Order: sequence, then structure tokens, then C-alpha cells
Amino acid sequence: MGFLDIDNATKSYGSVEVLHKVDISVQEGEFLVLVGPSGCGKSTLLNMIAGLEEITSGEIRIKDQVMNGVHPSNRNIAMVFQSYALYPNMTVGQNITFGLEMHGVPKPEREKAMAEVAKLLQIEQLLDRKPGQLSGGQRQRVAMGRALVREPDVFLFDEPLSNLDAKLRVDMRTEIKKLHQNLGTTIVYVTHDQIEAMTLSSRIAVMNGGYVQQLGTPQEIYDTPANIFVATFMGSPAMNVLPAKVVMLNGRPHAEVALFDGSMAQLPFSQDNLSHWDGRDILLGIRPETITDMDGADRKSSNIATMTNRIVVTEPAGSDTFVSMQLGGRDVIARMRSDAEVAPGQDFTFAVNMEKAVAFDPETENRIQG
Ligand SMILES: Nc1ncnc2c1ncn2[C@@H]1O[C@H](COP(=O)(O)OP(=O)(O)OP(=O)(O)O)[C@@H](O)[C@H]1O
Ligand SMILES: [Mg+2]
Repeated sequence: MGFLDIDNATKSYGSVEVLHKVDISVQEGEFLVLVGPSGCGKSTLLNMIAGLEEITSGEIRIKDQVMNGVHPSNRNIAMVFQSYALYPNMTVGQNITFGLEMHGVPKPEREKAMAEVAKLLQIEQLLDRKPGQLSGGQRQRVAMGRALVREPDVFLFDEPLSNLDAKLRVDMRTEIKKLHQNLGTTIVYVTHDQIEAMTLSSRIAVMNGGYVQQLGTPQEIYDTPANIFVATFMGSPAMNVLPAKVVMLNGRPHAEVALFDGSMAQLPFSQDNLSHWDGRDILLGIRPETITDMDGADRKSSNIATMTNRIVVTEPAGSDTFVSMQLGGRDVIARMRSDAEVAPGQDFTFAVNMEKAVAFDPETENRIQG
């Protein structure tokens, strides 16, 4: 039993099922992020937890109490939306304490709670203003303040940062992480931004088409993606996925891949289980940062392979330089340190950290497991 259990939950609108048998158990204090492309069902699932949408089948429990049919106001949850939904005619202070007032909390307690939250979110100087007199980031803080002041069992966030500019979004992301570290509250947070998902979460549910594709820690999702969708959705630039063939050399499985001129390179796998795939086509997954120059290769890896391939384009990006090449007939990106000496047209010896390589079944697109 978790703190929040989503048990075989399904949602249909009319005859269309938009969420299919979702099973997630969230522990107390966990920061769960629901991530996925637009329309995959993130908000629907969050709204079902909140009680704003009915559950078509299955069960949602908070602290082992079945929540199906329980009114949102009786679930002891607080929700922060993308649109801040502040009351325009109330001051910031009134917006924050309105919910407490409705629940009959006496004024001195309300004021104390408000002062604490305002201090935490650094909005003390804004308490007498109206929402119309605030910036987007300040409104977002107020919306969070209103949620925090209620000390709920579970916080639900639906893309709370997506209306903010890039810089502010990164700042607020850190603020939210700090808040979670300080308060230890259970959070379910929706975003379509994979970086937000990686940086904030203790676990991530990657969703697509109404299915949870994978549920795991950020590291698990990044290193051992369940399938090609997860592999390419999480990480920027995306994981390279290219056709390869498994061949056995010296009793060890290798990925045979075509270089720019059609000649073949054999890169040794670390996973012995791929021996079963001898002679068969696979899709090889290699993250850009695992293809480097020799100096940049991961020293902790026990499986660095080399290959010489022609560089097509170099793109300096400050701290890194992105290098593109043809591999397996696809455009493949390598992420090098900015001081790597690379130029277009050059035949360059790359180091590939094969310890991090993954293989996918081309038919199912699932990762081939041990
Ligand atoms: N009231 C509704 N009636 C019918 N279909 C709906 C309704 N609300 C949502 N849907 C459908 O359910 C699916 C999931 O929608 P949802 O809003 O949960 O997606 P989302 O992952 O939050 O997307 P976004 O990132 O764009 O917010 C979509 O295909 C959407 O069209
Ligand atoms: Mg949504």
C-alpha cells in the first residue's frame, strides 16, 4: 500500500478510452512527475486524483481511503494549475487565506499561516496587491502559496511553470524542489518538459497515448528506457536510434553498424544476453554524450569502443560542441566537450561508451532485456 494508490484506473469519454489501466503507487513524501506529449492523458489522470474528473473504472486511494466519488474538497489535496485561477478582486493575502476562511479557521491562525507561506515564497511585500498588479512569476508564487497554506496530504501541480519565460521557469523549478526538500510533502506534478521531469522527480511516469510507458527513477528511465518512445522522449538531444546487426566476435556480442562510406564497424556490447540475437537486426540506442573524443571518454566505463567516421556538421553550443555524422544510415549526434578539435569533413576517431548502449527489438520497439 502506498500513500496514494492509483489502481487499474481507466477513463473513458463516451466510447473513447483515453486512459488505460493506470497502476501507480506513490509513497509518502515522494515527488512523482507525470510526463508525456500533449494529449497523452496527464491532466485527466491528475484531475481524477483531485476528484475533478470521475474514474470510469478502477480505484484511487489516499492513505488507504477509497476516493472514488469523494468530493474534491474532502480529499485534503491542493492543486496548482497552469492558469493560476486567482480571484482578481481579492488581494494576494486574501487569495492565500480564502480557503482557510471557508474552512472556518480563526483569523489569528490564518494570519500566522499566511505570514509563514509568504516568507517561504518571498512574496511578503506583495500581500496587499491585486493579482492584476503582479508578474506571471509572482502570480505563480501566490497560486502556490494558496495551495501550501492548507497543509494538504497531496499537492497536485498541472504544468505550473509553462506560462513563465525560460529563465524564470528554471528559477521556479529550483524553488519548487527546495520547497519539497523542506516540507517533504507528497507531490504529483504534470509537465510535458522532460528536463523538468528529470530534475524534480523522485520517480517519473512516462505516458503516451493514455498508457504509462514506464515508471521509474530518473536514472532508470534515462539509462534503461523500456522502449524507443521513452528512450527518445527523455533526454536532449534525443538518444540516437539506428539500425544495427548483432554479430559474435571472440564469443562476445557486437553491434555491427554502417559508417559513412558503407564500411562496417563492430562495437562490443556489455550485455551478454544479446548473444541470443546473433545474426539478427536490432535498433541500437546510443546517447549523444556517450560518443566523444578519446580524451572525453568516461573513465569509469570498462567498455569504450572506438570507430573512425566522417564528421558532417559541428555545432558549438558554449559548454558542448555537437557533432553530426552518418551512422547506420541515420544522422547521429555526438556531444563533445567544447575544446574537442573537430571540423566538418574530418575523419575522426570517436570513443563510444558501449556500457551505456541499449538495444531495441525492431518489431516491438521494446528494449531487449537480460
Ligand atoms: N471532456 C473531454 N471529452 C472528451 N475527450 C477529452 C475530454 N478531456 C480530455 N479529452 C481527451 O483525453 C485525452 C487526454 O487529455 P489530457 O487533457 O489529459 O491530455 P494532457 O496530457 O494533459 O495534454 P496537454 O499536455 O496538452 O495538457 C486527449 O485525447 C483529449 O482530447
Ligand atoms: Mg494537460
